[in-house]
Amino acid sequence: MKSARIGLIAAALAAVLAVPFVLADGSGEKGNSAETHAAAASPIYGVTIPDGYRQWQLIAPAVEGAPLNEIRAVLGNDIAIKAYTEGTLPFPDGTILTKLAWKHVQSPEFEPASIPGDATTVQFMVKDSVKYKDSGGWGFGRFVNGQPVDEMQHQTCLGCHQARVKDHDLVFTRWAR
Ligand code: HEC
Repeated sequence: MKSARIGLIAAALAAVLAVPFVLADGSGEKGNSAETHAAAASPIYGVTIPDGYRQWQLIAPAVEGAPLNEIRAVLGNDIAIKAYTEGTLPFPDGTILTKLAWKHVQSPEFEPASIPGDATTVQFMVKDSVKYKDSGGWGFGRFVNGQPVDEMQHQTCLGCHQARVKDHDLVFTRWAR
């Protein structure tokens, strides 16, 4: 009995002591630059954060008003950029699109200007016509601080993209000329 209790106390202590190490591994890091720490995959689709996405080319910026008030940038990997410049539809397998988003903040240095505040989400759409045949060929992933958001949020992705941009391979963003 007594040794069982000591065992319990030891286990509780070990759990408490382990917390700082979990927090210190960088997974709680904020912002869009936390890409390489995320090993976790999105629910439903199993999309992970691809290496080097922060270096991808810009397709277009976007802004959304209240209540989110965000500034966004949609980037694509090389396959995506080639498809955009050649006007290829549907997008070929291997295409990855990402949308980075930040809070929309007024510049403290020049009032009429807006600047990005804190990063909010990083989202991905990965094209694989076999693996994702039941969702129009696309896998979806939304990440906050490098970690995927819950399944409920991932249930919304396909519906909105499919309802509004079915004739553009479920992709909203057009090339900003
Ligand atoms: C209510 C509608 C809606 C929902 C739900 C939604 N999106 Fe989008 N998404 C958009 C719009 C509109 C854009 C175009 C860019 C913008 O205005 O921000 C977009 C753009 C994107 C892009 C850039 C490629 C493109 O289509 O332009 C990605 C990647 C993306 N969304 C991922 C996701 C993921 C992942 C989810 C689910 C977690 C999701 N979206 C849910 C409306 C939606």
